[in-house]
Amino acid sequence: MKFALISVLLAGFLVAAFGGIRTRHTNIKCETRDPSYAEVPVCRLNVLGRGIIGANVHIKVSQLPIRKVSINFSVFQKLSGYHPFLFNVTVDLCHYMKHPNPYNVFHYFYGAMLPFINVNHTCPINVSHDIILKDFVLNDQMFSRVAGPKGNYMFKIKIISEGVWRGTIYSYMDVNAEDNTRIIPSG
Ligand SMILES: *[C@@H]1O[C@H](CO)[C@@H](O)[C@H](O)[C@H]1NC(C)=O
Ligand SMILES: *[C@@H]1O[C@H](CO)[C@@H](O)[C@H](O)[C@H]1NC(C)=O
Ligand SMILES: *[C@@H]1O[C@H](CO)[C@@H](O)[C@H](O)[C@H]1NC(C)=O
Ligand SMILES: *[C@@H]1O[C@H](CO)[C@@H](O)[C@H](O)[C@H]1NC(C)=O
Repeated sequence: MKFALISVLLAGFLVAAFGGIRTRHTNIKCETRDPSYAEVPVCRLNVLGRGIIGANVHIKVSQLPIRKVSINFSVFQKLSGYHPFLFNVTVDLCHYMKHPNPYNVFHYFYGAMLPFINVNHTCPINVSHDIILKDFVLNDQMFSRVAGPKGNYMFKIKIISEGVWRGTIYSYMDVNAEDNTRIIPSG
Protein backbone atom coordinates (compact mmCIF):
# COMPACT_ATOMS: atom_id res chain seq x y z
CA MET A 1 0.00 0.00 0.00
CA LYS A 2 2.71 2.38 1.04
CA PHE A 3 4.65 1.61 -2.10
CA ALA A 4 1.58 1.84 -4.28
CA LEU A 5 1.18 5.40 -3.13
CA ILE A 6 4.85 6.24 -3.46
CA SER A 7 5.05 4.82 -6.97
CA VAL A 8 1.98 6.70 -8.12
CA LEU A 9 3.34 9.95 -6.73
CA LEU A 10 6.73 9.28 -8.23
CA ALA A 11 5.29 8.43 -11.59
CA GLY A 12 3.73 11.85 -11.80
CA PHE A 13 6.82 13.61 -10.55
CA LEU A 14 9.21 11.74 -12.77
CA VAL A 15 7.27 11.89 -15.96
CA ALA A 16 7.37 15.62 -15.45
CA ALA A 17 11.08 15.64 -14.59
CA PHE A 18 12.44 13.60 -17.48
CA GLY A 19 12.47 14.35 -21.14
CA GLY A 20 14.64 12.10 -23.29
CA ILE A 21 15.85 9.40 -20.96
CA ARG A 22 18.81 7.20 -21.78
CA THR A 23 19.58 4.27 -19.58
CA ARG A 24 21.98 1.41 -19.78
CA HIS A 25 23.62 -1.31 -17.79
CA THR A 26 27.16 -0.57 -16.69
CA ASN A 27 27.96 -3.69 -14.69
CA ILE A 28 26.41 -6.80 -13.20
CA LYS A 29 27.59 -9.12 -10.43
CA CYS A 30 26.05 -12.32 -9.18
CA GLU A 31 26.85 -14.01 -5.90
CA THR A 32 25.63 -17.42 -4.90
CA ARG A 33 25.63 -18.34 -1.22
CA ASP A 34 25.42 -22.10 -1.69
CA PRO A 35 26.75 -23.55 -4.97
CA SER A 36 25.26 -26.95 -4.12
CA TYR A 37 21.83 -25.30 -4.32
CA ALA A 38 22.35 -22.94 -7.25
CA GLU A 39 25.16 -21.88 -9.53
CA VAL A 40 25.42 -18.91 -11.85
CA PRO A 41 27.55 -20.01 -14.83
CA VAL A 42 26.82 -16.80 -16.75
CA CYS A 43 26.55 -13.30 -15.30
CA ARG A 44 27.70 -10.65 -17.73
CA LEU A 45 26.87 -7.76 -19.99
CA ASN A 46 27.05 -8.05 -23.76
CA VAL A 47 27.35 -5.16 -26.15
CA LEU A 48 24.59 -5.71 -28.69
CA GLY A 49 25.10 -2.56 -30.68
CA ARG A 50 26.20 1.00 -30.27
CA GLY A 51 25.04 2.04 -26.83
CA ILE A 52 22.88 -1.08 -26.52
CA ILE A 53 23.87 -3.30 -23.65
CA GLY A 54 22.19 -6.55 -22.70
CA ALA A 55 22.40 -8.32 -19.35
CA ASN A 56 22.77 -12.08 -19.38
CA VAL A 57 22.32 -14.32 -16.36
CA HIS A 58 22.06 -18.11 -16.27
CA ILE A 59 21.02 -19.78 -13.04
CA LYS A 60 21.37 -23.51 -12.59
CA VAL A 61 19.25 -24.74 -9.70
CA SER A 62 20.07 -28.18 -8.32
CA GLN A 63 17.12 -28.66 -6.00
CA LEU A 64 13.76 -28.63 -7.72
CA PRO A 65 10.93 -27.88 -7.72
CA ILE A 66 11.01 -24.33 -6.39
CA ARG A 67 7.77 -23.66 -4.54
CA LYS A 68 8.48 -20.31 -2.92
CA VAL A 69 10.60 -17.43 -4.17
CA SER A 70 10.83 -13.96 -2.81
CA ILE A 71 13.21 -11.18 -3.53
CA ASN A 72 14.40 -8.29 -1.45
CA PHE A 73 14.81 -5.49 -3.89
CA SER A 74 16.60 -2.30 -2.90
CA VAL A 75 17.90 0.57 -4.95
CA PHE A 76 21.04 2.57 -4.25
CA GLN A 77 22.23 5.78 -5.77
CA LYS A 78 25.92 6.47 -6.26
CA LEU A 79 27.07 9.69 -4.68
CA SER A 80 30.30 9.12 -2.84
CA GLY A 81 29.64 5.43 -2.44
CA TYR A 82 26.22 3.82 -2.80
CA HIS A 83 23.41 5.12 -0.62
CA PRO A 84 19.91 3.67 -0.20
CA PHE A 85 17.54 5.36 -2.59
CA LEU A 86 13.78 5.28 -2.06
CA PHE A 87 13.04 1.66 -2.77
CA ASN A 88 13.41 -1.27 -0.46
CA VAL A 89 10.69 -3.80 -1.02
CA THR A 90 10.15 -7.49 -0.48
CA VAL A 91 8.23 -9.22 -3.23
CA ASP A 92 6.72 -12.68 -3.06
CA LEU A 93 7.51 -13.66 -6.62
CA CYS A 94 5.23 -16.70 -6.81
CA HIS A 95 2.31 -14.64 -5.62
CA TYR A 96 3.32 -11.80 -7.90
CA MET A 97 3.41 -13.94 -11.03
CA LYS A 98 -0.18 -14.96 -10.33
CA HIS A 99 -1.36 -11.48 -9.40
CA PRO A 100 0.73 -8.79 -11.08
CA ASN A 101 0.01 -5.42 -9.49
CA PRO A 102 0.61 -2.33 -11.62
CA TYR A 103 0.71 -0.14 -8.51
CA ASN A 104 3.73 -1.93 -7.11
CA VAL A 105 6.98 -0.24 -8.06
CA PHE A 106 8.42 -3.66 -8.81
CA HIS A 107 5.89 -4.05 -11.63
CA TYR A 108 7.88 -1.92 -14.04
CA PHE A 109 11.04 -3.92 -13.62
CA TYR A 110 9.25 -7.22 -13.71
CA GLY A 111 7.27 -6.25 -16.80
CA ALA A 112 10.38 -5.02 -18.57
CA MET A 113 12.31 -8.21 -17.81
CA LEU A 114 9.56 -10.72 -18.54
CA PRO A 115 10.10 -11.02 -22.30
CA PHE A 116 13.80 -11.80 -21.73
CA ILE A 117 13.35 -14.62 -19.20
CA ASN A 118 12.73 -18.22 -20.19
CA VAL A 119 10.74 -18.97 -17.02
CA ASN A 120 7.78 -16.70 -16.76
CA HIS A 121 5.02 -18.93 -15.48
CA THR A 122 3.72 -19.32 -11.95
CA CYS A 123 5.21 -21.54 -9.26
CA PRO A 124 6.12 -24.29 -8.74
CA ILE A 125 9.15 -23.94 -10.99
CA ASN A 126 10.37 -27.34 -12.06
CA VAL A 127 12.52 -26.85 -15.14
CA SER A 128 15.15 -29.26 -16.41
CA HIS A 129 17.10 -26.36 -17.98
CA ASP A 130 18.81 -23.28 -16.57
CA ILE A 131 16.80 -20.20 -15.76
CA ILE A 132 18.05 -17.69 -18.31
CA LEU A 133 17.84 -13.94 -18.61
CA LYS A 134 18.97 -13.23 -22.16
CA ASP A 135 20.10 -9.89 -23.58
CA PHE A 136 17.96 -7.87 -21.22
CA VAL A 137 18.17 -4.27 -22.42
CA LEU A 138 16.98 -1.55 -20.09
CA ASN A 139 14.01 0.24 -21.38
CA ASP A 140 13.72 3.95 -20.85
CA GLN A 141 10.02 3.60 -20.26
CA MET A 142 10.51 1.87 -16.94
CA PHE A 143 12.65 4.72 -15.70
CA SER A 144 10.21 7.32 -16.89
CA ARG A 145 7.90 5.90 -14.22
CA VAL A 146 10.08 4.92 -11.31
CA ALA A 147 13.65 6.10 -11.49
CA GLY A 148 15.25 9.04 -9.79
CA PRO A 149 17.31 11.80 -11.24
CA LYS A 150 20.12 11.28 -13.69
CA GLY A 151 22.97 9.33 -12.18
CA ASN A 152 24.37 5.92 -11.39
CA TYR A 153 22.25 3.38 -9.61
CA MET A 154 22.66 -0.06 -8.20
CA PHE A 155 19.82 -2.52 -7.82
CA LYS A 156 20.50 -5.07 -5.14
CA ILE A 157 18.36 -8.14 -5.65
CA LYS A 158 18.50 -10.75 -2.91
CA ILE A 159 16.96 -14.03 -3.96
CA ILE A 160 15.29 -16.11 -1.29
CA SER A 161 13.76 -19.49 -2.09
CA GLU A 162 12.03 -21.86 0.30
CA GLY A 163 12.78 -19.26 2.95
CA VAL A 164 16.56 -19.35 2.50
CA TRP A 165 18.68 -16.53 1.10
CA ARG A 166 20.39 -18.16 -1.92
CA GLY A 167 22.23 -15.34 -3.62
CA THR A 168 22.38 -11.73 -4.63
CA ILE A 169 22.46 -9.96 -7.97
CA TYR A 170 23.94 -6.48 -8.16
CA SER A 171 22.89 -4.62 -11.25
CA TYR A 172 24.51 -1.27 -12.01
CA MET A 173 23.17 1.26 -14.44
CA ASP A 174 23.35 4.79 -15.68
CA VAL A 175 20.23 6.80 -16.11
CA ASN A 176 20.50 9.52 -18.73
CA ALA A 177 23.79 8.00 -19.80
CA GLU A 178 26.20 9.90 -21.98
CA ASP A 179 27.34 8.31 -25.21
CA ASN A 180 30.87 7.63 -24.01
CA THR A 181 29.85 5.42 -21.07
CA ARG A 182 32.04 2.36 -20.79
CA ILE A 183 31.24 -1.05 -19.46
CA ILE A 184 33.20 -2.05 -16.39
CA PRO A 185 34.46 -5.56 -17.11
CA SER A 186 32.89 -7.95 -14.60
CA GLY A 187 34.87 -10.79 -13.13
C1 LIG B 1 15.59 -2.67 3.80
O1 LIG B 1 14.71 -2.95 4.86
C2 LIG B 1 15.14 -3.99 5.73
C3 LIG B 1 14.11 -4.20 6.80
O2 LIG B 1 12.83 -4.12 6.33
C4 LIG B 1 16.47 -3.61 6.36
O3 LIG B 1 16.94 -4.68 7.13
C5 LIG B 1 17.49 -3.30 5.27
O4 LIG B 1 18.69 -2.85 5.85
C6 LIG B 1 16.94 -2.24 4.34
N1 LIG B 1 17.89 -2.03 3.25
C7 LIG B 1 18.21 -0.83 2.80
C8 LIG B 1 19.15 -0.79 1.68
O5 LIG B 1 17.77 0.20 3.26
C1 LIG C 1 7.44 -16.22 -21.71
O1 LIG C 1 8.61 -16.87 -22.16
C2 LIG C 1 8.53 -17.37 -23.47
C3 LIG C 1 9.84 -18.07 -23.77
O2 LIG C 1 10.09 -19.11 -22.89
C4 LIG C 1 8.28 -16.22 -24.44
O3 LIG C 1 8.16 -16.74 -25.73
C5 LIG C 1 7.03 -15.47 -24.04
O4 LIG C 1 6.90 -14.34 -24.86
C6 LIG C 1 7.13 -15.02 -22.59
N1 LIG C 1 5.87 -14.40 -22.16
C7 LIG C 1 5.83 -13.13 -21.75
C8 LIG C 1 4.50 -12.66 -21.28
O5 LIG C 1 6.80 -12.41 -21.72
C1 LIG D 1 9.72 -32.19 -11.53
O1 LIG D 1 10.24 -32.72 -12.74
C2 LIG D 1 10.80 -34.01 -12.62
C3 LIG D 1 11.44 -34.45 -13.93
O2 LIG D 1 11.20 -33.54 -14.96
C4 LIG D 1 9.69 -34.99 -12.20
O3 LIG D 1 10.25 -36.28 -12.01
C5 LIG D 1 9.07 -34.50 -10.89
O4 LIG D 1 7.98 -35.34 -10.54
C6 LIG D 1 8.59 -33.07 -11.03
N1 LIG D 1 8.11 -32.61 -9.72
C7 LIG D 1 6.99 -31.90 -9.57
C8 LIG D 1 6.64 -31.51 -8.19
O5 LIG D 1 6.29 -31.59 -10.51
C1 LIG E 1 14.22 -9.61 3.25
O1 LIG E 1 13.29 -8.65 3.73
C2 LIG E 1 12.47 -9.11 4.75
C3 LIG E 1 11.47 -8.02 5.08
O2 LIG E 1 12.10 -6.81 5.31
C4 LIG E 1 13.32 -9.49 5.96
O3 LIG E 1 12.51 -9.99 6.99
C5 LIG E 1 14.33 -10.55 5.55
O4 LIG E 1 15.21 -10.81 6.62
C6 LIG E 1 15.14 -10.06 4.36
N1 LIG E 1 16.01 -11.15 3.91
C7 LIG E 1 17.30 -10.97 3.63
C8 LIG E 1 18.04 -12.17 3.15
O5 LIG E 1 17.86 -9.89 3.71
